[in-house]
Amino acid sequence: MRFNIPRLLGFSTAALSLSVALVSSAYADDDERAVTTTSNATWQAECSACHIAYPPRLLPRESWRAMMSNLKDHFGSDASLAAPATQEIATFLEENAGRKRQSASGKPIMRISETRWFQHEHDEVSSAVWKSPKVKSPANCAACHTLAERGNYSERYITIPK
Ligand code: HEC
Ligand code: HEC
Repeated sequence: MRFNIPRLLGFSTAALSLSVALVSSAYADDDERAVTTTSNATWQAECSACHIAYPPRLLPRESWRAMMSNLKDHFGSDASLAAPATQEIATFLEENAGRKRQSASGKPIMRISETRWFQHEHDEVSSAVWKSPKVKSPANCAACHTLAERGNYSERYITIPK
C-alpha cells in the first residue's frame, strides 16, 4: 500500500505522486532482475559448463524455446544434451522466463546482451571497457558482476576491470 502524502498534506500534486510511482516501479523492475533465486540442478550443472548459467528471467519464453530446440548449433558450439535433460531444462527456463521483448526482426532474441533492457542498463559502460581483454564479450557477465555465478547482479557487487 502506498500512502498518498500530497493528499494528506492537503494540496494537489498529482505530477509528484505520478513520478514517485514511476520511480518505484523502475526500482522494482531492477531488483527483480538483480538477484535470481530460482534454480534447477540439471540447468545449473549443464548450462554452466562453458559460461555462467544465465538467469532464466533475462530472456523471454520464446527465446529459451528456440535456443533449447537447437543446442547442437549453440553460438557455434555443440551444447546438445540427452532428451530428458533438454526437456527438464527447457521447462525450467520457460517457467521462469522474463517478459516478452521486442526484436526488430520479429524473431526471438538469442542474446541477453542484445535486449534493449540490457543495452539500457549498461549504457554507461564505455566501448573501451567492452573491448578490454578482461571482458572480451558482453556475455562474460562475471567479468564485472563478481557474484554472477550465484545469480547476483546487484550493483553492489560490480567491479569494472581496468
Ligand atoms: C559447449 C559449451 C556450451 C554449453 C554447454 C552451453 N553454452 Fe551457452 N554459449 C556458449 C557459447 C560459446 C556462447 C557465446 C558466448 C559469447 O558470445 O561470448 C554461449 C552463449 C549463450 C547465451 C547468450 C549470452 C549473451 O547474452 O550473449 C545464452 C543465453 C546461453 N548461452 C544459454 C545456454 C544454456 C541455457 C545452456 C544449457 C542448456 C548453455 N548455454 C550451455 C557455449 C555453451
Ligand atoms: C563490462 C562490465 C559488465 C559486464 C560484462 C556485464 N555487466 Fe551488467 N552491469 C554493469 C554495470 C556498470 C551496470 C550498471 C550498474 C548500475 O549503475 O546500476 C550493470 C547492471 C546490470 C544489472 C542491473 C543490476 C541492478 O542492480 O539494477 C543486471 C541484472 C546486469 N547488469 C546483468 C548482466 C548480465 C546478465 C550480463 C552478462 C550477460 C552483464 N550484466 C554483463 C557492468 C557489466
